Amino acid sequence: MNTPNILLAIESSCDETAAAVIDEDLNVLSSVIATQDELHQRFGGVVPEIASRAHLSNILPVIDEALRKSEHKLEDLSAIAVMTQPGLVGSLLVGLTAAKTLALVLNKPLVALNHIHAHLYACQMIAEENLFPAIGLVVSGGHTNLYDCSSPTEYDLIGSTIDDAAGEAFDKSAAILGLPYPGGPHIARVAEDGDPKAFRFPRTFIKEDRLAFSFSGIKTSMRYTALGQPGAKVEPPPLTEQRIADLSASFQEAVVDVLIAKCQQAAQQFGRKSVCIGGGVAANKRFRERLQELQQQSGIRVTIAPMNLCTDNAAMGAIAWELLKQGKTAELDVDVTPGLVRFKG
Ligand code: KG4
Ligand code: ZN
Repeated sequence: MNTPNILLAIESSCDETAAAVIDEDLNVLSSVIATQDELHQRFGGVVPEIASRAHLSNILPVIDEALRKSEHKLEDLSAIAVMTQPGLVGSLLVGLTAAKTLALVLNKPLVALNHIHAHLYACQMIAEENLFPAIGLVVSGGHTNLYDCSSPTEYDLIGSTIDDAAGEAFDKSAAILGLPYPGGPHIARVAEDGDPKAFRFPRTFIKEDRLAFSFSGIKTSMRYTALGQPGAKVEPPPLTEQRIADLSASFQEAVVDVLIAKCQQAAQQFGRKSVCIGGGVAANKRFRERLQELQQQSGIRVTIAPMNLCTDNAAMGAIAWELLKQGKTAELDVDVTPGLVRFKG
């Protein structure tokens, strides 16, 4: 086999249809993302059936455009990589079917990727040196997971949320405040004019050693503070622009406090000097500032995925090069794994 030098990566695990062409030196030659936010907005969250139907209509144009932008043809590709886990089953199947078809027709290796690992690999893509071993935090709409990563492809799950993911808490709290979906960027935007100390939201497990998260309490607390307690005799004050800003800033500060504390605890408990952060919530400006502070105060090396690689994309499928180097290609009968695999791999 010739030395592979460019590959196509496909992502369709949730509600973004994405394709990217990446070379062996991790240069992203093109990255195309078709978002479905508008389709899901009125439901306040992703509707799986709508997502898979939209993937079906988007997948081929997105792949086409990624190739065109990279100025390469299908025949130039050395491998086809695709996220096969975790995610929505119908959504994952669309990307996998496209990838299998291309691999079969072009007679090129197929590489099955873990979306979560890819989120963290986005950190390695901007780093000068090897960041691993490291603690990895993937904080997105579907996951809030801490990993002990001995290498870029070997991850032990060491902590996760017992209920909502952090991004989900952002999305649900934004909906309570009447802000659009996905709520994270909107909360972050209005929080800039708010007082983070105006309200005291819960910081669940922050003082405990256990590496676990819980964000359903803060969501309920947001509901009661913003809209009032069920059966309460007193109406809450009206949701003015300033109150929404203060609630957003206070909520964001509480979530960030917890995420920072758990990164630090995980690094201490596992004796790691490097921490990598990826996933949609890693795009949060306040979180990024606080992570910089953590690096300065603790001496832990903190690497945050670049902004354009935080939310779902296919460029982070560059992790496929690591798997190809290890000879880890997939058979054409590989299936999707919608649930999170809770062991090393
Ligand atoms: O990684 P991602 O694109 O999709 C999943 O795999 O879930 O993450 C999407 C999540 C959403 O919950 C969204 O509200 C959140 O990331 N998010 C943010 C920000 N940008 C996106 N949360 C807080 N602040 C942001 N700036
Ligand atoms: Zn994601």
